[in-house]
Amino acid sequence: AKIKQLRRSLLAWYQQEGRTLPWRDSSDAYGIWIAEIMLQQTQVKTVIPYYQRWLSQFPTVEALAGADLQQVLKAWQGLGYYARARNLHKAAKIVVEQYQGKFPNQLEAVLKLPGIGRTTVGGILSAAFNQPISILDGNVKRVLARLTALTVPPPKALKDLWQLSDILLDPKHPGTFNQAIMDLGATVCLPKTPNCQQCPWKTHGPAYLSNLQHQLPMREAD
Ligand code: ADE
Repeated sequence: AKIKQLRRSLLAWYQQEGRTLPWRDSSDAYGIWIAEIMLQQTQVKTVIPYYQRWLSQFPTVEALAGADLQQVLKAWQGLGYYARARNLHKAAKIVVEQYQGKFPNQLEAVLKLPGIGRTTVGGILSAAFNQPISILDGNVKRVLARLTALTVPPPKALKDLWQLSDILLDPKHPGTFNQAIMDLGATVCLPKTPNCQQCPWKTHGPAYLSNLQHQLPMREAD
């Protein structure tokens, strides 16, 4: 019953406090894919204008696949980590050639596309197709480590954190749940100054209850 309460309180919090972000307006897998790639190494507030410009320049996967690499790199200019743009272009061609321009909804197929790893596939498939696939980006790691007062140091903690993310994921609302836990990490469960009073999980979090939130997650010993 406790896990159900955690899901319920997070989703209720998200309804009130969740961010309005452009890629949340639709379930178009192409747009969600572009956003998730941009968000891999770039902050939300930087990504927003790039995302909007990108979708007007390359509104469909066919448009992206048909563009020159130079055009694609130019649209990426300022975001850094250009391998992401090259991979987007390559993957767009694969989606057009092998999947008739329909972004695949099978986990294995999506994972084979260049530039897509485990957390990105969860972000895309849960948001676009409401598939129950968990995520574990930096924000989610911090939230989960604090929720459970996880005192296992990285990299060993990764396995536990993925397991937690799997267990907690709301099977009825996986898309919304993943967006919600990312927002909790980005707006409340902050690295240096967490706003524990605002947290929907404050009465559940052993880290907060034992005042450990500033010590967690554990870092690798120097
Ligand atoms: N970071 C990675 N994916 C995200 C998303 N969908 N919304 C907000 N931040 C994110």
